[in-house]
Amino acid sequence: MIQVAVLGYGTVGSGVVEVIETNKADINKKAGEELNVKYILDLRDFPGDPYEEKVVHDYNVILNDPEVAIICETMGGLKPAYDFTRQALLAGKSVCTSNKELVANHGPELIQIAKDHHCNYLFEASVGGGIPIIRPLNYSLTAEKIDGITGILNGTTNYILTKMDKEGADFAEVLKEAQDKGYAERNPEADVEGYDACRKIAILSSLMCGKNVKYEDIYTEGITKISSADFKYAKQMNKSVKLLAMSRDTEDGFFAMVAPFMISKEHPLYSVSDVFNAVYVHGNMLGDSMYYGRGAGKLPTASAVVSDVVDCARHQGKTIMCFWDMENVKVADIADAKRKFFVRVNAGQREAAMEAFGSLAEVNVGFAEEFAFMTQVLSEKEFNEKIEKAGGCINRIRIMA
Ligand code: HSE
Repeated sequence: MIQVAVLGYGTVGSGVVEVIETNKADINKKAGEELNVKYILDLRDFPGDPYEEKVVHDYNVILNDPEVAIICETMGGLKPAYDFTRQALLAGKSVCTSNKELVANHGPELIQIAKDHHCNYLFEASVGGGIPIIRPLNYSLTAEKIDGITGILNGTTNYILTKMDKEGADFAEVLKEAQDKGYAERNPEADVEGYDACRKIAILSSLMCGKNVKYEDIYTEGITKISSADFKYAKQMNKSVKLLAMSRDTEDGFFAMVAPFMISKEHPLYSVSDVFNAVYVHGNMLGDSMYYGRGAGKLPTASAVVSDVVDCARHQGKTIMCFWDMENVKVADIADAKRKFFVRVNAGQREAAMEAFGSLAEVNVGFAEEFAFMTQVLSEKEFNEKIEKAGGCINRIRIMA
């Protein structure tokens, strides 16, 4: 029997216990041995909970129990998750996590400790909730040189943008709904400002490069400036607005960015709605492939954590290869990244905008007080210079090619 401990009995942690219990027979068969949740670590007590007897408040009980071989870290945040994970790996206990913040901050170091101590640090649940994406990048696409990843990586913002698009719903009201459904982070800023997606694309990009992509180096813009008017224009152009996280490994350097984009109906990511996430990966031999599923929520995320537990059970005493070195990747300045932009200015700026941008395509939805248009392909630097000349804008959204 393999003894498992769960750190944090919140949304994902309670999901892990539920998944292991519900699918016990299948999971044990696939793990090759019976799994048992021996401890649940939480500061709180859970009177009446069927697993209340397993709850402990002192991490040392878990750390010092030689029977515990696998730990599920579903606490989130850096403290005390970092120390707990490090101590577990140093003791030769494998750790499976949903904690993207910790993986993005300390991934390569924790992977190395696991390697040195013949155990595993696995993080399938840290990106894309229940979607298998870490495993495909690590084990399946090993014949590829992956040069592009574009993802819808945050369930909460995708849920909000979908409702704004389909129902004309109000931002704050939809955010509340997403929080009630257990999709959102404790601090909603992490979702709506794009920080969560930024950590996730940093993790995927690191696996793509085999080196460390620091999330602090990734330009990040959230969805708080997106309004119902933007969706009206998007519809007129047969497009929608999505928060995209992307990275490109090009001859001119490595580019990465998180920002809202206008995306056309023909693009496979256009129809990724609600809490669903998708990761669109380009490899030099395979071409495009896409990984799709529920990107947030209790059971989908827990399912990914438990899939890692099964992997650990199958590889006891061995470390599963993961190429993510500590060396930092140089992330290129986005000033040189080129694309078209959708722009809204006040009606009085029409002439100034036409003069600054030269060739542009007007988009008219009948808002008399505004002048809206799509630019030609411009670098970020060129766009910023021109919009400044035109006297600023109400909003501007990048257009996905
Ligand atoms: N808040 C995150 C999201 C949870 O909405 O995608 C899953 O990482």
